[in-house]
Amino acid sequence: MPSTKEQLSEKKSKRVRTLKGLILSGGKGSRLRPFTYTSAKQLVPIANKPVLFYTIEQLVECGITDIAIVVGDTADQIRAAVGDGSAFGASVEYIQQDAPLGIAHAVKIARDYMGETAFVLYLGDNFLLGGVKPFVDSFRENGANCQILLHPVKNPQAFGIAELVDGRVTRIVEKPASPPSNLAVIGVYMFDQHVFEAVERIKPSARGELEITDTIQYFIDKGLDVQAELLDRYWIDTGKMDDILEANRMVLQSLAPSNRGQVDERTRVYEPVILEKGARVVNSVLRGPLVIGEKTEIIDSYVGPFTTIDHHCRLKGVRVEGSIILENTSIEDIHWPIDRSLIGRHVTLRGGQAVGGSYSLTLGDHSEIGMPEG
Ligand code: DAU
Repeated sequence: MPSTKEQLSEKKSKRVRTLKGLILSGGKGSRLRPFTYTSAKQLVPIANKPVLFYTIEQLVECGITDIAIVVGDTADQIRAAVGDGSAFGASVEYIQQDAPLGIAHAVKIARDYMGETAFVLYLGDNFLLGGVKPFVDSFRENGANCQILLHPVKNPQAFGIAELVDGRVTRIVEKPASPPSNLAVIGVYMFDQHVFEAVERIKPSARGELEITDTIQYFIDKGLDVQAELLDRYWIDTGKMDDILEANRMVLQSLAPSNRGQVDERTRVYEPVILEKGARVVNSVLRGPLVIGEKTEIIDSYVGPFTTIDHHCRLKGVRVEGSIILENTSIEDIHWPIDRSLIGRHVTLRGGQAVGGSYSLTLGDHSEIGMPEG
């Protein structure tokens, strides 16, 4: 007998599940040295906001407020930045991972926190523009055991890659030498409680990690329902410097201008420009999109498109564009333009008026300085 409308909607609402969130912020971040010697890679800012904050905000936007963050060596920094989560409207707990033994290992140690609740696993260095709400909503309602998001990539050797037959995922492989497709499994996954059975059964890979791709393969092999959706929005794994600059570019394009600082009458401003509280600009050119952080001073300088300058910086006699400059950094009298650069916290870069002379450098391990060609 056909169900009435009420019966159908009751059936559906019973299936709508409550979800928790699991964000991974452990790991080593070796591709982002030297920043990751002193700071967690998930705290590198994009448009002056740490990547990890976008992740938390996006989970909260999905109605997920019980969130655990897996932390490693940089636990203290992550805790200091996020606290108990109340600033985000969430309740955040921390799970310590003693060594980066794999994404699936991080899931394994979250078992007590999750209990029987299905959850969204979000890798803390993945960045998505526009959030994940439609995908999380569909997982809430579709009853799948696992749901993954796919995005075409140019370098499939660097990701977990999915093989599809007639729209169904048949195989997932981690960083394959001969990729079966160009569809990367991005770092947002949805699982029900079967995941804890999977992570107990899988074995460490050749690189010694419990792989999330093997976990999903376990679901497929067991005949559990694995749904895959094609991601229709901008996504990036911010593991490398170029990726961070690109994500910064994308976010800046989407921001509305605002001015909470001071600009003198000799300065020319080409919007969109965001000046945060107490920022001061003197005799300069600002060509947006760009963000200048709190109490930062820009004097006799050109700040060009796709640049983010953090709080309490000072730039004098400098041309900079397409770059990210972190807090408390001072740059003065550099004759060549600074472009496509990521400059850390408390850095001092000082040129001089004279032509010629020599460099005096104090650079940490894995620093890079490149001079323009030609
Ligand atoms: O970005 C998507 C890719 O992320 C997927 O396509 C791959 O299948 C998946 O393995 C992962 O690859 P990565 O090589 O980018 O993973 P990575 O080691 O950078 O770790 C991702 C995040 O998880 C990062 O924020 C650090 C954290 N992590 C990682 C490991 C291995 C932990 O918290 N604990 C860990 O043990």
